[in-house]
Amino acid sequence: MTSADTHVTIGKAMCEETPPEPCGIVIFGASGDLVARKLLPALFGLYRRNLLPERFFVLGFARTPMTDEEFRTRVRDCILSAHPEGVEELDEFLALCRYTHGEYDDPEAYADLALCSSECALDYHAADNLLFYLALPPQLHAVTVRHLYNAGLTKEGDDGHPWRRVVFEKPFGHDLASALKLDDTLCSMLRQEQIFRMDHYLGKETVQSILMFRFANAIFEPLWNRSYIDHVQITVAESLGVEHRSAYYDNAGCLRDMFQNHMMQMLALVAMEPPTSFDSERVRDERVKLLHSIRPWSKDEICSSVVRAQYGAGIKADGSPLKAYLDEPGIAPRSSTETYVAAKLFIDNWRWQGVPFFLRSGKRMPRKVSEIAVTFRRVPHSMFGMHSKAEMPANVLILKIQPEEGIDLHIQAKQPGPKSCMSTMTLAFKYHEIFGINPPDAYERLLLDCMLGDRTLFWSREGVEAAWQLITPILETWRDTPEASPLLHYPAGSWGPDASARLIRTIGKRWRE
Ligand code: BG6
Repeated sequence: MTSADTHVTIGKAMCEETPPEPCGIVIFGASGDLVARKLLPALFGLYRRNLLPERFFVLGFARTPMTDEEFRTRVRDCILSAHPEGVEELDEFLALCRYTHGEYDDPEAYADLALCSSECALDYHAADNLLFYLALPPQLHAVTVRHLYNAGLTKEGDDGHPWRRVVFEKPFGHDLASALKLDDTLCSMLRQEQIFRMDHYLGKETVQSILMFRFANAIFEPLWNRSYIDHVQITVAESLGVEHRSAYYDNAGCLRDMFQNHMMQMLALVAMEPPTSFDSERVRDERVKLLHSIRPWSKDEICSSVVRAQYGAGIKADGSPLKAYLDEPGIAPRSSTETYVAAKLFIDNWRWQGVPFFLRSGKRMPRKVSEIAVTFRRVPHSMFGMHSKAEMPANVLILKIQPEEGIDLHIQAKQPGPKSCMSTMTLAFKYHEIFGINPPDAYERLLLDCMLGDRTLFWSREGVEAAWQLITPILETWRDTPEASPLLHYPAGSWGPDASARLIRTIGKRWRE
């Protein structure tokens, strides 16, 4: 179907996409999985869209010894698996890639890196602006920044040129105390403007469009409050299990891995107040304000309003068997790590008083889906004799984040024919149908923003702190009184434990499936 078939008119785009100033990106952990699956394909995607700086280089850094040529072969393989159609420009892109190796805690490695990056800056005329991307386990963040700092690599020019920026992948700490400690260490060496805390959910197209949808249309915002909204559901379900990340995941669990970051950011965007402008600091401030307005759970509420569970053995939709979490390679035999969390929360402000928000995320669900569903209140009275007020379905607005990006609105309409039959129909807007392309990967947007110095789509220090303030008491309650909030189980390939269904039934509703 094309936009013509759906009778959607796409107006003149009002956008600016400016390529950044010349710079180089130094990727720590360059031989790792995230770099192969996300970072390199995203850089190549930007290259093909002419959004990389005109003068640019990629310098890989990792422990594995490799020549530039060997690194380029790896880069080629990663890119070809993500962009099989992009062979033409690939050689030009590979010519921008170099590699150096060393230990992350060895000062000499950083002295070599300093030499190597200056050479690259000269060879590629990249103006000495450097973006350091730490695709590293969190325990290496502070030590790497310390060495970069000691080697003079984070030092910027007096007028901010050349600039030096550091990008951190989550998790930002393990709990409130460790997050604050990490941040204090980083802030003793870097200015806030140099720090980019990545949350790839913020780079997803539909997540980005939430603010535009809410604040660039006059028709939704007047309804966006307790008077018209019944409840909100935020779901991030994954069909995959823990995969090859058991070492990290078994220590983290779903609450740290998904709730403290992605879920909180989506909640903040859907519920925050309008910022005074689309300026990075204003937007980030409003997100933080919203996080501060979430009512903290008391100990009792943690037991009644937060469900945690782990997947047991189960079956896929196609009938094939799925292993239990405890049988996955690398998982501790008696691990009590949760792979699923559902929570009910309230926001204590004028707009949202009394409106329940239900959040759930889990691995090994029946399918992959991320969405925010806003259910409006029912009509106050039914004038259609055959339908009582209670039978009239409510309008639901669904912000579809993945796998299919778009927006659906469920409304009631008359079925054609002589009788007065009513049914629910969906006004559906699908990105790829309307714009004829799939939206670019989140990492493309976020990498571009790092190079442009735009921090709108990144976590602020205050945001990280506010999210941990909410989440840490849950972790503590689970640790200290496990019998009061027990770890439940659900079959792999199902929508989670019954307790999660009961949680939403407290308001007489069901999770969307
Ligand atoms: C990551 C988590 O941040 O997000 C993973 O660490 C999770 O456990 C992933 O699988 C989900 O991202 P996406 O983009 O596939 O929904």
